[in-house]
Amino acid sequence: MARKIVITSGKGGVGKTTICANLGIRLASTGLRVVMMDLDIGLNNLDVVMGIENKVVYDIVDVIDGKCRAKQALIQDMRQPSLYTMPSAHIYTENKITGYGIKYVVDQLAQSFDYVLLDCPAGIDSGFHRAVFSASEAIVITTPHIASIRDADKVISILNSYQLNKISFIVNRIRGDLVLNGQMIDVKNIENLLKVQLVGVIPEDDEISTCSSLGGGVHSKTESYLAFKNLCDNLHNGTDNMFDYTLKYKGFLGSIKRNLRKRV
Ligand SMILES: Nc1ncnc2c1ncn2[C@@H]1O[C@H](COP(=O)(O)OP(=O)(O)OP(=O)(O)O)[C@@H](O)[C@H]1O
Ligand SMILES: [Mg+2]
Repeated sequence: MARKIVITSGKGGVGKTTICANLGIRLASTGLRVVMMDLDIGLNNLDVVMGIENKVVYDIVDVIDGKCRAKQALIQDMRQPSLYTMPSAHIYTENKITGYGIKYVVDQLAQSFDYVLLDCPAGIDSGFHRAVFSASEAIVITTPHIASIRDADKVISILNSYQLNKISFIVNRIRGDLVLNGQMIDVKNIENLLKVQLVGVIPEDDEISTCSSLGGGVHSKTESYLAFKNLCDNLHNGTDNMFDYTLKYKGFLGSIKRNLRKRV
């Protein structure tokens, strides 16, 4: 039976879809069977990030309506054969999709996969509750900005009212240079504020946004590759290896990089 993990946040645009896609790719690269579902109905961001938009035959609404089986709608990833995406609805059919409908699809898929990753819409309205209803675990994404941390805290208190096995969080878009210069809150302080388990730290990296626009995951020679690899290990094996976002800005050369970055 799969681990059914909802990837959520309070604030929008903090990297849920990006992290869902890269986590799915990393987990599948180890041979695990992974299916991802975009529950931001009508916007299809995950389909775009995974580059599957033109391959969609059936979508989640067709599965809920009984026009096809869940497995028939899945699209296999070109790079990772054990990674699949359930296409989001082509058109905005918000009212047709209920929490029970999504749960029906998720529970069908959970029987044949190791992970079901649910990419949650932003906010805490019906779309959020619909997504969390099918999950057994939640990962909350926050950036190191106060509005995002505050909204993550609110979301965690709402998640606590669900019967989830585990709630953890990821800090995304952290900048080691700003943290060392005292201009950005560090991960330890965010951990103290949110009081749930930290499962990953992802740096701010242009490579990530480039890969999101071009479709697919980050390349193996980048620092964010290591960050996503650590995240995948922590989630799957229960390790506690966090990406060291300050490493490249430490020491003599590091301080030059830090000052250069300040000037650009
Ligand atoms: N660590 C990062 N470094 C650089 N860019 C990033 C990083 N994480 C996300 N981004 C970029 O931020 C933008 C928003 O990311 P994304 O769409 O994943 O957020 P989201 O939380 O899913 O948004 P929404 O709430 O609208 O669903 C994208 O352009 C993405 O490429
Ligand atoms: Mg998104």
